Amino acid sequence: MPMTLPEIARRAGMEGFTSGRSPIVVQARRKGPGDAGRGSSARRAARARTAQRLDGEASASCAHTPVLARELLELLDPQPGQTAIDCTFGDGGHARLVAQRLGPAGTLIAIDRDPLAQERFAALAAETACSVRFIRSGYAEALARLADEGVRADMAYFDLGMSSMQVDTRERGFSYSYDAPLDMRMDPAQELTARQIVAEWDERRIAQVLRDYGEERHAGAIAREIVRRRAQTPIDTTLALVDTIKDALPAPARFAGGHPAKRSFQALRIAVNDELGQLDRALPLAWGLLRDGGMLAGIAFHSLEDRRVKRFLGEQARGCICPPDLPICVCGREPAAALIPRRAIVPSADELASNPRAGSARLRGARKLSTAHQENA
Ligand SMILES: C[S@@+](CC[C@H](N)C(=O)[O-])C[C@H]1O[C@@H](n2cnc3c(N)ncnc32)[C@H](O)[C@@H]1O
Repeated sequence: MPMTLPEIARRAGMEGFTSGRSPIVVQARRKGPGDAGRGSSARRAARARTAQRLDGEASASCAHTPVLARELLELLDPQPGQTAIDCTFGDGGHARLVAQRLGPAGTLIAIDRDPLAQERFAALAAETACSVRFIRSGYAEALARLADEGVRADMAYFDLGMSSMQVDTRERGFSYSYDAPLDMRMDPAQELTARQIVAEWDERRIAQVLRDYGEERHAGAIAREIVRRRAQTPIDTTLALVDTIKDALPAPARFAGGHPAKRSFQALRIAVNDELGQLDRALPLAWGLLRDGGMLAGIAFHSLEDRRVKRFLGEQARGCICPPDLPICVCGREPAAALIPRRAIVPSADELASNPRAGSARLRGARKLSTAHQENA
């Protein structure tokens, strides 16, 4: 029998579980010496075995392979007792590795807008030694809430886009490979779906989404075909949309550059979930929560996200902004960050061979400087 969310939360020893429309906050109990679960020798032994696993290796209970895991861990370098914010918990692959390093005195705050991620979090909460907390909402709202609460963190990180869990759950409509309702919502309580965009938005607005979020060269033709076809029959499944896109494309474009619907599906998913708006709001909030010396890191899977992470971190790392023709600096601006490393980290050949989904991943990070001239890389 599958467990309900409240049951999972109860078994995981979590308090403050509420259900209903988002945002939902799960506040886990802070673990202490009196924690009954931690007293068990079986659990202590299990935890010790977990801690001995190689860096970058997800635990056996985590079927999902986190992308650039070893590189992210090296960058963040979590230490016992620190506080980490995982802004995109997903299947918990990265979070599990980070939590192992934080140890019993550390704190992991996990965020995701997907109720499935919340279920996965309950499993992690039961097996991890550190204090844990889950916030189910968009990460921009969750980080604003943490700022209001005065939370300070030693690291915050984003692993952007959709999870394997989301793309592989056919009925959620993220994939152009399976027939399913045209949905694509990360938070199923949200109103806007991909079906609604395709059924109701005007041609110009659809073309703009496909162009801006999918960098689709044939955005105009696809939007035109969507509007023409929907006047005859509703386009409310993924494969109906794939057919529409294929019919709109000139023959060479149908067979070049990967699946013909790839860019349009990415564009719709970004629009449905306001992914870029969320990221633009979240980056400064995450940065603001960091203590001096704290690390911010982002893994992006397409250039629209990567550019945003790069630009944001680059702005923090920028010093003098005086016009170049001024002989001396009058602005007095000092860098607030050190980029570590200066360029994006990409997956190794080994990772690409074992996980083709890592193909387009780019990891960037920066350390918050406590004083201007320290560590300016
Ligand atoms: C690539 S997956 C993360 C995978 C995770 N790092 C792991 O190792 O399992 C991205 C996750 O971020 C979540 N997500 C994306 N945008 C979000 C947003 N604006 N607010 C909250 N969660 C978001 C998605 O629901 C998804 O679960």
